[in-house]
Amino acid sequence: MLKTNFLILLFIFEIYLIKIIVAADFLSEKPDFLKSCEIKKPQFTKCSTESIQGLFNNIENGIPGFTAIKSFEPFTLNKIRIAQGNSEAVNINVDLSKLKLYGLTKIIVKESKVSSKDFSWKTTLLLPKMKIESDYGLQGRILLIPLNGNGKMILHISDLNVVLYTKTKLYEKGGFTFYNVTDTKIDYNLNGFQSYFTNLFGGNKDLEESTNLFFNENWMMLAEALRPVLTQAIQDVLLDMLQKIFHYIPAQFFVSDIPTPKELYGN
Ligand SMILES: *[C@@H]1O[C@H](CO)[C@@H](O)[C@H](O)[C@H]1NC(C)=O
Repeated sequence: MLKTNFLILLFIFEIYLIKIIVAADFLSEKPDFLKSCEIKKPQFTKCSTESIQGLFNNIENGIPGFTAIKSFEPFTLNKIRIAQGNSEAVNINVDLSKLKLYGLTKIIVKESKVSSKDFSWKTTLLLPKMKIESDYGLQGRILLIPLNGNGKMILHISDLNVVLYTKTKLYEKGGFTFYNVTDTKIDYNLNGFQSYFTNLFGGNKDLEESTNLFFNENWMMLAEALRPVLTQAIQDVLLDMLQKIFHYIPAQFFVSDIPTPKELYGN
């Protein structure tokens, strides 16, 4: 009798453990703030836009049990792939580390289109105000100024309009269909770009100050020169963020009539 009781207890305990493990892996219950949309309906894009806006509105602390990203405000990244610009205006190697991004939770989703063919997305976003703080390492020249240094970088970007192209692959997990976000590409424009770099010339303060001043007086040229670097940085941030979110929240919470991977790709 005692042995049976013990076995039952062990069994219950095991089920409990399995539940904890599963619960930590993905979200099995749809939160109320996420709007489900049917892709076969004509109003899908409008509905999906509201759904993705709901996600961003609740992204900080709103997704139960989500631990893959510790904070969205600021959003942090250890390192960004070294980007290489190679043009008239810019010829540099940039190395960004210890990145902190502020402003992601203020994203305005203007449109969220989803292809019913391959479930890729075209998402139009507006970030009214963004601040990027990072350690930088820089070698090369920007706007004809030779630079070779490392220090801290602060960028203030206003009205960043982004068109985001996302490629996905559907997969199955625990009876749900999920998005595997495999690629992000962006087009963007912006309305303001203020930068500040410390230690641009190995401690030469006068040169550093005049260069920072020059950059801010010519911010449009600087932003254009840095476009390849910024594009890469934003794409990397979004890829990392979206992968983590969509490995956690089932795709069918967003698109209720999404096919299973088998239905979409065959066997
Ligand atoms: C997601 O896609 C990547 C790249 O194709 C692949 O390596 C990875 O195994 C996929 N993950 C899942 C869960 O399907």
